[in-house]
Amino acid sequence: DVDVAETDIAGLPAYPFIGPDDNPFVPVTGADLERLERPVGKVKLPFGGWAWLVTRHEDVRQLLRHPGFSSDQYKPGFPVLNPIPPKQDDASGLFIFMDGEAHSRFRKMLTAEFMIKNIRRIEPLIEETVVEALDRMEKLGAPADLMAEFALPVPSMTICHLLGVPYADHDFFQDHSRVIMDRKSGPAEVEAALGALAGLLGDLVEAKRENPGEDLLSRLTLERVDTGELRKDELVSLAMLLLVAGHETTANMIGLSALVLLQHPEHLEALREDPSLAPGMVEELLRYLTVVRTGLPRLAMEDAEIGGQRIRAGEGVVAMLAMSNRDQSVFSDPDLFDPQRREAHRHMAFGFGLHQCIGQPLARAELRVALVELARRFPELRSELSLADVPQRPMAVTFGVAELPVTW
Ligand code: HEM
Repeated sequence: DVDVAETDIAGLPAYPFIGPDDNPFVPVTGADLERLERPVGKVKLPFGGWAWLVTRHEDVRQLLRHPGFSSDQYKPGFPVLNPIPPKQDDASGLFIFMDGEAHSRFRKMLTAEFMIKNIRRIEPLIEETVVEALDRMEKLGAPADLMAEFALPVPSMTICHLLGVPYADHDFFQDHSRVIMDRKSGPAEVEAALGALAGLLGDLVEAKRENPGEDLLSRLTLERVDTGELRKDELVSLAMLLLVAGHETTANMIGLSALVLLQHPEHLEALREDPSLAPGMVEELLRYLTVVRTGLPRLAMEDAEIGGQRIRAGEGVVAMLAMSNRDQSVFSDPDLFDPQRREAHRHMAFGFGLHQCIGQPLARAELRVALVELARRFPELRSELSLADVPQRPMAVTFGVAELPVTW
């Protein structure tokens, strides 16, 4: 048994890893791999302390479905990977950080909302959003920033449609979402934008009560808030979670996917000729890019064994999705981007187990529609950005580019 105090933290490989300079899509260098004891080894954390890094596909599955590991980043000893804001009083619906009953209470209320039939209802609206964004980009003329004009607005508009934000409030919603996601915004600005959105959502809940529609906020207001099952502030913070969890991840997937396809014009061409290739291509992009780069941190609440390694209560663990998505025992030639890959759907880009992404049907629909329309509308699309220019952002939660200048 190893004692926490006995661990020589300074000698451990530093996490999050920075991949090789010449290929931002590869999540780890050979040098880091050599130093990492596997299958489950210790790494030094960015804000102090160490954690077990779990990298094999099977081990990550075992970890993420184990009920003895907590997602509550405010628990002492939690292996923090990103600077976390002080705990907010209004964090009442952020079930992504909750465990057990508290978590499943919220999750169950949302399951039906993300069922395929509800997503089908939104799909024409996604189509409309995508077409509008591309129209505007075309009108503005080349060169354009694909992130600002396309990849960022599409997910926030989609959340508007899901929640049932009325057209009159779309610009307000979009503007404040943009501030929240913009890396250049200061903490005070972000806080003000979060407050403004929470205010809008609170007013909307009241409006939906009077005048319900076919949308998530209306249903949850009538079926849960008015029945006393859910508090209004919980519903507002649930809605904020959906915005934040679904915005940057999906936006970076759209941007990076465009970049990958620009590196491989033959796949862009194939997609234009046969849109039925899109679902398979999207799965492979999800695997290959694994935008939740830093992986999923957990805190052991009881002694457990993962991948043959004994983990003791109080120790931190990180599931490195980007490596399990390149596990050779599941994905052959894993560093190759292969849209025809048959096992692509086994990726864990959406996590796995208890907290597996609830928004995945929506994310898949957005990616599919966005890439097919992009290929169709801009057959001459090119990017001046070379792979070496793609910044490595080891401290960012999600992997992505800040700007993606394109011409056509
Ligand atoms: C959870 C990835 C899009 C809402 C997660 C988790 C991952 C993930 C890895 C697991 C977190 C954990 O176990 O700690 C992604 C990726 C997306 C995406 C890669 C885009 C390509 C979305 C969208 C929404 C969404 C569009 C909603 C509109 C959520 C929520 C959770 C979650 C609410 C928490 C689920 C729970 O704790 O039970 N996502 N996500 N995500 N995602 Fe997504």
